[in-house]
Amino acid sequence: MSRIIVVVSGKGGVGKTTVTANLGVILGGMGYKVTLIDADVGLNNLDLALGLEDRVVYDVFDVIEGRAAPEEALVGSQNFPGVRLLPSVKGSDGIRQTAFQAVADSYALISDFVIIDAPAGVESGFHRAAAAAKEAIIVTTPQLSAVKDADRTRSALGVYDIDIKGLVVNRVRQSALERGEEIRGELIAEFMRVKLLGELPESDYILRNALSPPRSQAREAYIRLAETLLNGGEGYRVKTKRKLFAFKRRDK
Ligand SMILES: Nc1ncnc2c1ncn2[C@@H]1O[C@H](COP(=O)(O)OP(=O)(O)OP(=O)(O)O)[C@@H](O)[C@H]1O
Ligand SMILES: [Mg+2]
Repeated sequence: MSRIIVVVSGKGGVGKTTVTANLGVILGGMGYKVTLIDADVGLNNLDLALGLEDRVVYDVFDVIEGRAAPEEALVGSQNFPGVRLLPSVKGSDGIRQTAFQAVADSYALISDFVIIDAPAGVESGFHRAAAAAKEAIIVTTPQLSAVKDADRTRSALGVYDIDIKGLVVNRVRQSALERGEEIRGELIAEFMRVKLLGELPESDYILRNALSPPRSQAREAYIRLAETLLNGGEGYRVKTKRKLFAFKRRDK
């Protein structure tokens, strides 16, 4: 059965689009059929994250209005086997929740995974994306302001019949962990009462184009994230060379 997963955060810029793109590429590489839906209407940049921006012809509105068949609107690349993108609308935002839901359902019929990149905040765009999904991944960074917003988003998901798979803590810095300046993912997840799906390291390799190189911590972390989503189990932790001090500083 196919899975429809929305990637949400609360605070903007914490890595929803990056996580959506990288996770999609990893799952596609494992042999799954993956459709990525850009639900960030107006600020859409999932095409950019995948380096597919020059190939975009149709968008989600064309599918809703029948100008393009669902398959026809998808954009893919040989670099990313198994992964195709449904781009978002560039201009105005008139898409109804029910129409968007129907679009996601139609892609679920032809995919193993539909991953929806939600906009920041808990406004109408967030609700449209959340209503279309069956499962949710919440992304935050270790900063308290992002964690608070992520927790608000977790509450906002409460009105939906949605399985919160857990939390991804992105941009975790090994050096900051070792100095005790950053909160570990476990503590954040415990505070939010959700499962930790994994930490993702701060990394220069992490995408512009979803090509994180082999043997990087970043790639390993994404593979583990995919495995955790597929099979459960422990999420990835950013490795530290030294024993950790207790967390000692408040949000910066
Ligand atoms: N682990 C990471 N290491 C380094 N840079 C990262 C990492 N994750 C994301 N970034 C960078 O952070 C920026 C914001 O990421 P991204 O666009 O994925 O966030 P977002 O949550 O989708 O933002 P928005 O709320 O605007 O949609 C991008 O420039 C991205 O390349
Ligand atoms: Mg984004």
